[in-house]
Amino acid sequence: MRDSLDNEIPYIKFKDVSFSYPGEKENLIFKCNFSIKKPGFWMIVGKNGSGKSTFLKLINGILKPKNGFIDSNANIGMVFQNPDHQILMPNCRSELLININHNISQNEINKKIEYVLDQVGMTGFEKRPVHTLSGGQKQRLTIACALISNRNFIVLDEPTALLDQTSQLKVLQTIKNLTSDHKIPLSALWITHRYEELTYADAVAELKNGFLSSWKEPSKFQYN
Ligand SMILES: Nc1ncnc2c1ncn2[C@@H]1O[C@H](COP(=O)(O)OP(=O)(O)OP(=O)(O)O)[C@@H](O)[C@H]1O
Ligand SMILES: [Mg+2]
Repeated sequence: MRDSLDNEIPYIKFKDVSFSYPGEKENLIFKCNFSIKKPGFWMIVGKNGSGKSTFLKLINGILKPKNGFIDSNANIGMVFQNPDHQILMPNCRSELLININHNISQNEINKKIEYVLDQVGMTGFEKRPVHTLSGGQKQRLTIACALISNRNFIVLDEPTALLDQTSQLKVLQTIKNLTSDHKIPLSALWITHRYEELTYADAVAELKNGFLSSWKEPSKFQYN
């Protein structure tokens, strides 16, 4: 049901990427080398102001590196900390409709809407007004929007920062399930400063003092 760019494996590679904002002498990101070549659940952890959101803006092309280069074939969908800054329409169906490719029949559109809502654990929510959704349901709706627009790489910038623990776990589990489905390659890069979330990841790296560490299994990762 998800086309996912004909099942192409999404990848992102950074080669010696440095970045500083205009007027800043010090590099916020310094000679960063990293790659994500396999579908899965990837997490980057870092303290407030360490440059996590800046790093994501380099990944999705909003910012350009000062030095180095970025190679990617990923079709990136974004999920931000506050879904109210992202959701535009009054109900779930209309929000999904503005994200879908309309070059398909009405019947296929309806099937896709049903499918992606099911994928994020929101079966039957099609007609629900957005203002009646919980924060976690809104976040899962934004994930469904990424899926319905055939994204194969979802980047989430502290998506659980405004959620209670129950909603936090549902959003984490949703991404875990989606990235564990090997029939449809999907990568998720999840930014967090919540240590307890790291156990859900396939691999974890830390952004600190401008450097990104190498990927480690969550059980072998130490957050200083
Ligand atoms: N547009 C900008 N112009 C100049 N400086 C900026 C700009 N955006 C961010 N910065 C600075 O870059 C640094 C890193 O910011 P960034 O938002 O990337 O950090 P973060 O790790 O995402 O922080 P948080 O955990 O609070 O979300 C901060 O010192 C911030 O003030
Ligand atoms: Mg940030």
